[in-house]
Amino acid sequence: MDQKHFIPDPYEFSLPEGSVQWRSPSNIALVKYWGKKGHQIPANPSISFTLDACATTTTLGFERLDVPTKDFLVEVLLDGKLKESFKPKILQFFQRIESYVPFLKQYQFTIGTHNSFPHSSGIASSASGMSALALCLIEMESQMVEVSEEQFKQKASFIARLGSGSACRSIEGGLVVWGANDAIEGSSDLFGVQFPYEVHPAFQRFHDTILLVDKGEKQVSSTVGHGLMHGHPFAEQRFQQAHQNMGRLKAAISEGNLDEFIKIVESEALTLHAMMMSSHPYFILMKPNTLSIINKVWKFREETGLHLCFTLDAGANAHLLYPENEATEVYEFIKDELVAFCQNGHYICDRVGTGAKQLTMNR
Ligand code: PMV
Repeated sequence: MDQKHFIPDPYEFSLPEGSVQWRSPSNIALVKYWGKKGHQIPANPSISFTLDACATTTTLGFERLDVPTKDFLVEVLLDGKLKESFKPKILQFFQRIESYVPFLKQYQFTIGTHNSFPHSSGIASSASGMSALALCLIEMESQMVEVSEEQFKQKASFIARLGSGSACRSIEGGLVVWGANDAIEGSSDLFGVQFPYEVHPAFQRFHDTILLVDKGEKQVSSTVGHGLMHGHPFAEQRFQQAHQNMGRLKAAISEGNLDEFIKIVESEALTLHAMMMSSHPYFILMKPNTLSIINKVWKFREETGLHLCFTLDAGANAHLLYPENEATEVYEFIKDELVAFCQNGHYICDRVGTGAKQLTMNR
């Protein structure tokens, strides 16, 4: 399948006006996407848990114009307030997707968004935000041309990817794979697919407690970060390692092998940061409190034998992952010993969720 597959057939009719609303969650990568080849195509495969509590709700209002415009007509609101600073990103997104969503210049749009997590929490809203907007647009399209549920999800993921790579993993629930690799049948560089194998009960209701170590703006944007992998001395080995880790993680998830899962997930997080420390320019994105958390997690694991591990995105916050049947003890430990390392004591309790949901469609 190539990109052309996503150019739609001529629409049967067009919607005059209305609004559509979707809620789409964030996700946390276990094998990390870091590096692109070409246009939003990942240099290596990745797999993530879809989250539940951390989500964006987007309402897309649309009104058909008598004459199509030359420029996109769009207003963006965050929590009901005009947000001019979001507009350039949305306009760039519309430009990227125009050939796949050809009705964009026939409408005037109002995009209203709300994040369940605070804007300044250091949690990236691009995965949930871009996937929610992509879902609203593809929902509109699905009213104009007939599509199956599978086609709908694939196209929403394809469009979300063009906004922010990791957003393509936020459509489906559970575990989602993005990036063609031999271990996962049906995997694609163009869109995310749900992990197509048995998931052992140990991984079914996994928890993710996000410790907000640094709530400031990202030090390195992910666009810059991905770019740092071009000409990186360890890039090729890293991309190969991600392919191997996909195979190893697939086996661990099917067998319920928590020890193997922990080894892969923590190594992936540290490798992501090692890539940033060894690029030019180089960055250290962990903070002293991130390291304190990591050391405490290791000590706790050694002392209790419980299966708590950490992962990191391209920042200082720590995601703590643990199985449902160990949640009581682990949560006590987090509250007693780790919250002290969070900025203003802030953390978010999340867990694996079931994917994006449509809330309303008015036409
Ligand atoms: O989707 P982007 O371009 O913001 O990149 C996300 C990169 C990481 O969060 C660091 C890893 C991942 O796979 O989500």
